[in-house]
Amino acid sequence: MMKILYCSMFLFVITLTGCFLINIDAHIDPTSGFVEVMLNETNFEYQKPYDTPLDQRYSYQNKNHRFWVYADDKPHHLGSNTQPRTEIRILPDYSSGIWQFEGLAFVPNGTSGATIVQIHGAAHGNTTILLRIYNGDMRYYSTPVIDTDLYDKWFKVNLIHNVDEGKVTVYIDNQERLKTHDQGPGMLHFKFGVYGAPTNISYYMESRWKAVKIYKKC
Ligand SMILES: *[C@@H]1O[C@H](CO)[C@@H](O)[C@H](O)[C@H]1NC(C)=O
Ligand SMILES: *[C@@H]1O[C@H](CO)[C@@H](O)[C@H](O)[C@H]1NC(C)=O
Ligand SMILES: *[C@@H]1O[C@H](CO)[C@@H](O)[C@H](O)[C@H]1NC(C)=O
Ligand SMILES: *[C@@H]1O[C@H](CO)[C@@H](O)[C@H](O)[C@H]1NC(C)=O
Repeated sequence: MMKILYCSMFLFVITLTGCFLINIDAHIDPTSGFVEVMLNETNFEYQKPYDTPLDQRYSYQNKNHRFWVYADDKPHHLGSNTQPRTEIRILPDYSSGIWQFEGLAFVPNGTSGATIVQIHGAAHGNTTILLRIYNGDMRYYSTPVIDTDLYDKWFKVNLIHNVDEGKVTVYIDNQERLKTHDQGPGMLHFKFGVYGAPTNISYYMESRWKAVKIYKKC
């Protein structure tokens, strides 16, 4: 397994008045110290409107996953009262330890009120974290905004869940954007794709994903 290490470069500036240490590269690799969990097709469960064939809401080409859904689509199960979704659930569940999701995401301008990645399962409620795009900004649930100006570009998402400490950390493009408590332990799993928020959702919702990986800390 090849890992890219972002090494911080240090520059010593010596002046007449002293010596200053300047960190000229603040980037960190959130996967440092983690080990990749190898995934194949058996680790993916596809969820889509129950009355619609998968290929009308999902495609996989050139290693790019593309998910889309409409606001008036059906939920993933007959009888469910949840919003429409086209998502991949990553199996198996985890319930302890330190886990990480990584992927490159793309959300086209126009998609709004859409969860693009989540951790499902919790002691309190149904989810540990939802990351939604509203008008190009990323929000943790409905609020707060944790990053802005994300339409029409690829951005890297790293989501670390320390179940043992009850903490979730979000990195966008290697910058820490959120560190918060989780919602208590449970049977947990990562999901990515598009899932309508309760309100203020665009009629059409789409996200694309590539290089999706799961890591675990030993
Ligand atoms: C896919 O992953 C599962 C679970 O890790 C493993 O049991 C199975 O052998 C793998 N299949 C292939 C084709 O690699
Ligand atoms: C998104 O599209 C709208 C309507 O076409 C446009 O006004 C807006 O500038 C676009 N936003 C971005 C970030 O491209
Ligand atoms: C959890 O999901 C169930 C089934 O979809 C739903 O009935 C319930 O309202 C949800 N609970 C919360 C707190 O969202
Ligand atoms: C939905 O839109 C209304 C009207 O613009 C606004 O007051 C409300 O805060 C929005 N809700 C969310 C979750 O963004």
